[in-house]
Amino acid sequence: MLKSKNALTRWALSIATVSVLLACSETQSTATDDSARWYTPQQLAQGRAIFAENCAACHGANGEGVSNWQTPDSNGFYPAPPVNGTAHAWHHSLAVLLRTINQGGEQLGGRMPGFQGRLTELEQRSAVAAFQDYWPDDIYAQWLVIDNR
Ligand code: HEC
Repeated sequence: MLKSKNALTRWALSIATVSVLLACSETQSTATDDSARWYTPQQLAQGRAIFAENCAACHGANGEGVSNWQTPDSNGFYPAPPVNGTAHAWHHSLAVLLRTINQGGEQLGGRMPGFQGRLTELEQRSAVAAFQDYWPDDIYAQWLVIDNR
């Protein structure tokens, strides 16, 4: 009796697992469909040049950041984080990303320089396109939800 009850539980669990897996793959394929990027190939090309010139020195050529980015230096400042979709940048709406680039990290207690007056708003947007292009589709789709809030 006990044995068959266990078997039943196992069976129910495996059905549950399969439906969760199915639900996940369904969400993912929808997410990929919804993730057409907001930027044009021209903006991306411009952004790559801007990123290489203004951002790559700190954030890495491909936005990979510094390997010890989670460890503050002796002055309590953090090194440049990845912006390639592996850290926190994708939790921020486009408006917040642009504000950080425009005003720098001081407002966050950091020391990233602000680009106000050095890059136009359109150039700053292109720089966002450059690093967002490294984001996998599922991360980009999650960001879209945050950006639309
Ligand atoms: C001198 C180094 C430096 C340069 C140059 C620099 N950054 Fe940063 N960036 C940082 C640091 C450090 C942080 C973390 C916040 C802080 O300490 O100010 C940061 C944070 C960010 C964030 C927020 C990331 C997050 O997880 O929320 C974005 C987006 C960003 N930078 C984009 C850029 C772009 C785009 C450029 C070029 C236009 C750029 N940065 C140039 C050092 C730099």
